[in-house]
Amino acid sequence: MPKTIIISNRLPIKVQRTETGLAYETSEGGLATGLGSIYKTDDNIWIGWPGTFFNDEAEQEQVSKDLSEQSMHPVFLTEAEIRDFYEGFSNETLWPSFHYFSQYAVYDDTFWEAYQQVNRKFCQAVMERAEPGDTIWVHDYQLLLLPQMVREEVAESTIGFFQHIPFPSYEVFRLLPWREQILKGMLGADLVGFHTFDDARHFLSSVSRIVGWTSSQNLIDNGHRQIMVDAFPMGIDYEKYASLAASEEMKEKLKEYREALHDQKVMLSIDRLDYSKGIPQRLRGFELLLQEHPEFREKVTLFMLVVPSRDQVEQYRELKETIDELVGRINSSYRTITWNPIQYFYRSFPLEELSALYALADIALVTPMRDGMNLVCKEFVASKLDQSGVLILSEMAGAAKELSDALLINPNDLGAMVLAMQEAMVMPEEEQKLRMQHMQEILQQYDIHHWVSIFMNRLDYIKIKQMSLA
Ligand code: UDP
Ligand code: G6P
Repeated sequence: MPKTIIISNRLPIKVQRTETGLAYETSEGGLATGLGSIYKTDDNIWIGWPGTFFNDEAEQEQVSKDLSEQSMHPVFLTEAEIRDFYEGFSNETLWPSFHYFSQYAVYDDTFWEAYQQVNRKFCQAVMERAEPGDTIWVHDYQLLLLPQMVREEVAESTIGFFQHIPFPSYEVFRLLPWREQILKGMLGADLVGFHTFDDARHFLSSVSRIVGWTSSQNLIDNGHRQIMVDAFPMGIDYEKYASLAASEEMKEKLKEYREALHDQKVMLSIDRLDYSKGIPQRLRGFELLLQEHPEFREKVTLFMLVVPSRDQVEQYRELKETIDELVGRINSSYRTITWNPIQYFYRSFPLEELSALYALADIALVTPMRDGMNLVCKEFVASKLDQSGVLILSEMAGAAKELSDALLINPNDLGAMVLAMQEAMVMPEEEQKLRMQHMQEILQQYDIHHWVSIFMNRLDYIKIKQMSLA
């Protein structure tokens, strides 16, 4: 039976070496958490990097064996590949460029060489597993060349590509020295998907201006093949979050937390450590709230979870220092004997803890400078069983297109952020419920299962269309 092969740089499980042997943990990040709960159907498999450098052959064999029991197949990266492909081209060139932080982008030919080489390595891994009739589903910016590489191996392959981060406007994209090769790599797919219509529009405009292929009604014709480009806003496993929040265990935990916090409001902020997430700006907003509104002091605590990420990259290390300093400054300026304004955690949390925090929070602060989608805000909404709670959401997150009942703000506008926090602090329950209910209806309908089936249907459609034109 034909299967779907999912390929992403990071597997949904990361393997770590510990004193007692190998440890397997769930990966963070929207791609892994979103797809992690649905790929294990039929004979589907997932190919990707297990997140750690393994040199030892026996260790590699052990990892391969353990992962294959969960339908995963590792691609091992060397130390040089981790440095130049992963930290380098992926996270110092593409990530900043695609998130409109071009000033952070490094243009380095060594990184580009490594990027091509690792994409080839992934292509080999795909070829080892692919059988006629399989669907190849490539994910995200680390593997932009892979669709075309697979196409060159097997011309009639069915290839879908989905990008989980924004696609920038042509004016930003064209700054990349390898812009044409990148686009041609992506255009090896039959279907190219993004989270929003704006991303799809930006991509089509770059294709037309850089490659010279025009499109009509989201279809690009390259002379041999039609390629479809469309928006597929990714959903979450709604039922998983809703039922976790409804469990007896969670109710107990929630009661315990509530009692410890007395009548304080809880603001919640959860992100990977990333400059695209706007964490310093959010902290400045919270500081301004306490400064301008003394009535809220001792009435609100900000729970801020920052998950370590890409800590070998300089911009990330600097960001960590900025955040540490800001948290220290705010806490030392405003804390009292019985109250600490910010509870700051620099580590990752298991799903059950996240779920309890979502259920506990009165206000979620999701204020990225730029985000492809952002699943944290969706998980918060799905966890609010009593429909109380307010979501403050950045206009720059893909999710803002669907969640118009959130308090939408521009993260560069500190005044607006403070106003939204103030409004959230005093929002009547009736209004909270109305807004939450609308958002829940949308997220329940357009969940992760719906997302996968729409993407796959569209891929089938374009293949049939190509055949009818052949
Ligand atoms: N997450 C996690 N552990 C944590 C904090 C977050 O697994 O300690 C998950 C969170 O539940 C969400 C994902 O990481 O599913 C973050 O996805 P999002 O789309 O919000 O941002 P990304 O990290 O992909 O940029
Ligand atoms: C975002 C990206 C993913 C990536 C994740 C975590 O969600 O879209 O492709 O896996 O961040 O980043 P990392 O560098 O740890 O894989």
